[in-house]
Amino acid sequence: MALFFKKGDSAKPRQAERILPRHLGIIMDGNGRWAKKRGMPRSAGHTVGAANFKTITRYCAKIGIEYLTVYAFSTENWKRPSAEINGLMKLFKQYLEESLRDFRDDDIKVRFIGDTEAFSSDLRQLIEETREVCKDRTGMVLNIAMNYGGRDEILRAVKQISQKVSQGELTQEEITEEVFSRHLYTAGQPDPDLIIRPSGEQRISNFLLWQSAYTEYIIMDILWPDFTTADLDAALAEYARRNRRFGGV
Ligand code: FPP
Repeated sequence: MALFFKKGDSAKPRQAERILPRHLGIIMDGNGRWAKKRGMPRSAGHTVGAANFKTITRYCAKIGIEYLTVYAFSTENWKRPSAEINGLMKLFKQYLEESLRDFRDDDIKVRFIGDTEAFSSDLRQLIEETREVCKDRTGMVLNIAMNYGGRDEILRAVKQISQKVSQGELTQEEITEEVFSRHLYTAGQPDPDLIIRPSGEQRISNFLLWQSAYTEYIIMDILWPDFTTADLDAALAEYARRNRRFGGV
């Protein structure tokens, strides 16, 4: 099955074939190129991308995705020009404020994965408020990966585990894959079944490295601001046709 999946490649899913991923990951890529193509500043791409994040999130909740993880800001994104970073931080605040209200009706439980301590105090406060507001919700879990890096997450888990070993809380023999997973930001959640990367880039970019060992990848030649619910449906149809073997036969 082609890893690279072009818009329009796929026929409509037959209902009987429709197997939804429990956990879907999305790398929201291509905002900058979308803006450049239109002679606009990169920040304009992020603004449209952020609006699309809300549309796609609500659609995922509606169709029955249980866990959605979106890559909003990586540990490497701090290398970008400060004007772009500041613009992104402003967008995060604006969209978190709006989402607190909007996601209530959809019963979406927002969680954050990544080192949120690095953010400004007002953004951290908003993150705390969001956690508090969402704590009793039972609908789709939305993990927003902010200042997230897969390697950073793995190192953090190694440090926590080694500390437990040195304090006698855990023995080396007790360190299993399950124990390791419990020390990740996604503790208690199933691994992603499918990760979609719009924009055509064929890279993992430090996203859910441990968790995606057997994840299906679909790379689509569409920039994130242009990515529609129909594109998502096409990707889900492609996923439903894949034969997952997890290393077996
Ligand atoms: C990658 O595209 C996108 C980002 C680094 C930012 C993604 C953030 C949003 C869509 C806003 C979401 C808001 C919330 C609250 C989660 P790029 O800029 O690297 O695009 P390029 O590869 O075309 O330059």
